[in-house]
Amino acid sequence: MTKKTIIVTGGAGFIGGNFVHHMLKKYSDYRIVCLDALTYAGNLETLEPVMKNPNFRFVKLDITDRSGVYKLFEEERPEVLVNFAAESHVDRSIENPGVFVSTNVMGTQVLLDACRKFGILRYHQVSTDEVYGDLPLDRPDLFFTETTPLHTSSPYSASKAGADLLVLAYHRTFKLPVTISRCSNNYGPYHFPEKLIPLMIANALADKPLPVYGDGMNVRDWLYVEDHCRAIDLILEKGRIGEVYNVGGHNEMHNIDIVKLILKALGKPESLIHFVKDRAGHDRRYAIDPAKIHSELGWLPETKFADGIQKTVKWYLDNKPWWEHIVTGEYADYYKKMYGDKL
Ligand code: NAD
Ligand code: TYD
Repeated sequence: MTKKTIIVTGGAGFIGGNFVHHMLKKYSDYRIVCLDALTYAGNLETLEPVMKNPNFRFVKLDITDRSGVYKLFEEERPEVLVNFAAESHVDRSIENPGVFVSTNVMGTQVLLDACRKFGILRYHQVSTDEVYGDLPLDRPDLFFTETTPLHTSSPYSASKAGADLLVLAYHRTFKLPVTISRCSNNYGPYHFPEKLIPLMIANALADKPLPVYGDGMNVRDWLYVEDHCRAIDLILEKGRIGEVYNVGGHNEMHNIDIVKLILKALGKPESLIHFVKDRAGHDRRYAIDPAKIHSELGWLPETKFADGIQKTVKWYLDNKPWWEHIVTGEYADYYKKMYGDKL
């Protein structure tokens, strides 16, 4: 029996890494080829448990490297490509937008071209609810649907929207078989500690100040990462070609409430909270309407936030070496630059 080969780009990152684990656990007849440039956000320790799996191959490669990507396609002849590779942090996109355009837009185009040149059964683009911009805090009745106009705020979200439009253009113009998922904020194991939840866990454990932007009232719609991985898996299996699927679990929380919850779970005092200067252009509220993926594909989130956050805190307690290597490495310079004069 021939194995189905799936290229997973960005598989050394947070969601891509969880997706690699999910797929290898679930399917014994799939070959997963992880392509990752190992930027500051890529971490081979995340993939360590599968490195020796005969169904897994890791290739260090930049998605903007056209000849390298074409060579890999020639070698592997994949049936499916799932693109997680991206610059993913809004604050970094405010500091340095260029690399976001390069990886998120140009890199996506290289992957699309490779799929056209060598043929593919499915190209899946992992996108974000941030392409829809934000919603007002005083209109809890409003949600993002797949037909909400793209209306971005940050260089990050603009680059992700640019990529989405290219993906849809390659479908319409070249008949490339694509799907797109736009998910809300994820949390869970292997989350890089520059993002809200792991940053607050790491700081609280070190009794360091917890930097909350603005008044802490911004709202994000949180989804446990495994639920996102299941959604992508389902879209690959049953999703309609050319379609966009929103993914979210109706779990809206104010940032400040998340921070307080983490402090409580760790038995740390709220006096660690420090309100700092707001993020430029800070999106107020994200909220996904997941009706389409629920009604068409039967997807529903399985992990309730109360359980997911406890599991996540436990994971960070049990896996200190994973994140301590990060916070003491190159990331320490970033942290000093971003928060040094704020705290
Ligand atoms: P991440 O920053 O943790 O991981 C990104 C990975 O991509 C890293 O392993 C990095 O090394 C790799 N990468 C970066 N540039 C590359 C390049 N030029 N070539 C090859 N590899 C490169 O990101 P994440 O949080 O896991 O997000 C994955 C995807 O999901 C992104 O496309 C992001 O936009 C999207 N997304 C994230 C969230 C979230 O809450 N984190 C929510 C919705 C959608
Ligand atoms: P983040 O994890 O960066 O995700 P995104 O901005 O892509 O949604 O941030 C989540 C929320 O937490 C966002 O409203 C910004 C806020 N935040 C802080 O208050 N302090 C921080 O140190 C960070 C990183 C984020």
